[in-house]
Amino acid sequence: NLPTHVQLVDVGPRDGLQNEKQFVPAGVKIELVRRLRAAGLKHIEVTSFVSPKWVPQMADNAEVMRGLRRSIDDPRDVRYAVLVPNLQGMDAALAAPREEWPDDVVVFASASEAFSQKNINCSIAESIERFRPVVARALEHGLAVRGAMSCTVGCPYEGEVAPERVGMLAKLMKDIGVQHVGVADTLGVGTPLKVQRALDAALRHYGVDQVSGHFHDTYGQALANTLASLELGIWQFDASVAGLGGCPYAKGATGNVATEDMVYLLHGMGIETGIDLDALIDVGVYISVALGREPVSRVSKAVRAK
Ligand code: HMG
Ligand code: MG
Repeated sequence: NLPTHVQLVDVGPRDGLQNEKQFVPAGVKIELVRRLRAAGLKHIEVTSFVSPKWVPQMADNAEVMRGLRRSIDDPRDVRYAVLVPNLQGMDAALAAPREEWPDDVVVFASASEAFSQKNINCSIAESIERFRPVVARALEHGLAVRGAMSCTVGCPYEGEVAPERVGMLAKLMKDIGVQHVGVADTLGVGTPLKVQRALDAALRHYGVDQVSGHFHDTYGQALANTLASLELGIWQFDASVAGLGGCPYAKGATGNVATEDMVYLLHGMGIETGIDLDALIDVGVYISVALGREPVSRVSKAVRAK
């Protein structure tokens, strides 16, 4: 009973680029988003309104949003998401004219205490208190709110993370009005049964249409974890074009699973995504050339070798 349609959120412009040492000009980020749209992506995480001292690569957030500005008659068939850690970030995102606002705000917390401290410099409980007014303000302005839950199977500082921690965090997210949660394997250490247990914990508080998977591919398990998620009825996943990325506070973790590899898997199973794989492969080449490296996607490599 697998889903017949999957919605992929390309997080490459944010999760993918945030860890890049070389500064990527806003123009390249904007063009990356534009090309992802053209390849059929309907949901893109475009930047984050975090502290530029912590993540310098995202310092051009307002410029990126300006470049993506949409006219009033734009059908808004594509959703733009941005990460927001606190009210300061929310205010910054809303300071722009309405046409430059995101559609979705993503607050992000960790299922492990130690990662919470390293990533956002506060405890899990403190982070929830910080998000409470962010969520309220976003909803007041008609924006949708998603919650990213990090380290739901493993933490670089604490090791294995119990599913109960994921359930507790999902409940906290629910209590402050977060509408959708992403279950993230930040380190990419998860295997299918562990990922299913983390998803099950989130599904105790959210419906199957309000839970997505966010898998990094460090240990090469992300596609297996995706299949395990599909078996639970999960039909929304984050992925990153060309497999870009890594998290600055999760040493050694590689990028999200490549969007190209996800599309190949899904189309091969007769599950539609609305994405043109060949066009997507070209997008991956575009950004990889800009960064001076090869796309990490195996599918991209195989198709281009033909
Ligand atoms: P802090 O240092 O505790 O915050 O950082 P603060 O309130 O004391 O502020 C310190 C300075 O930052 C001040 O500037 C503030 O103005 C400024 P100063 O007075 O020193 O000049 N500041 C800001 N500037 C711009 N926008 C803001 C903002 N907030 C404060 N929003 C803070 C706390 C949360 C801000 C910081 O830790 C931070 O920005 N962390 C972001 C870390 C991050 O982006 N990590 C990567 C994303 S998470 C991820 O990748 C995981 C995910 O993909 C899922 C997964 O795979 O797990 C989502
Ligand atoms: Mg991530």
